[in-house]
Amino acid sequence: MLQLVYVSSVNPAAGSVAPEPILQVSRRLNARDDITGLLYSDGRRFLQALEGPEEAVEAAFARIEADPRHRAIVLLSRRIVDRREFGDWMMAHRTTAEDLDEFLHRIRTLVARASPEIRATFEGFAELRRAA
Ligand SMILES: Cc1cc2nc3c(=O)[nH]c(=O)nc-3n(C[C@H](O)[C@H](O)[C@H](O)COP(=O)(O)O)c2cc1C
Repeated sequence: MLQLVYVSSVNPAAGSVAPEPILQVSRRLNARDDITGLLYSDGRRFLQALEGPEEAVEAAFARIEADPRHRAIVLLSRRIVDRREFGDWMMAHRTTAEDLDEFLHRIRTLVARASPEIRATFEGFAELRRAA
């Protein structure tokens, strides 16, 4: 099974990018393709993990890379994993009402089974909000 993790930035030319339509399409296609993972968005950047059969993940990533809603896509990790580390498809999106510590706790729970490097990447990414 292939696991990919990438980071990207919302394309300013695409206007404000709402996560809901992205999630709707992703859930449908990922269910069809047996892909699971985690999409984290803070409204400016995306951090996504994709897991599933190798060919399906490669094909999904090719579509995602071509999507004009984001840009500057950087692949952080490409690994073959024995079992899924991110569980079911989830979306970690911090609502304005949510306390930062609660949010960080939620991220940690979501990535609890991922490798230490990937966990650190997601947690560090979420922590950036503190500095922002
Ligand atoms: C940040 C981001 C994450 C996405 N994640 C997925 C995903 O996990 N699976 C997926 O099939 N499409 C995902 N998409 C949507 C794809 O880019 C693409 O629109 C969709 O797969 C339909 O492909 P098509 O327009 O070539 O038919 C994502 C798009 C963005 C901007």
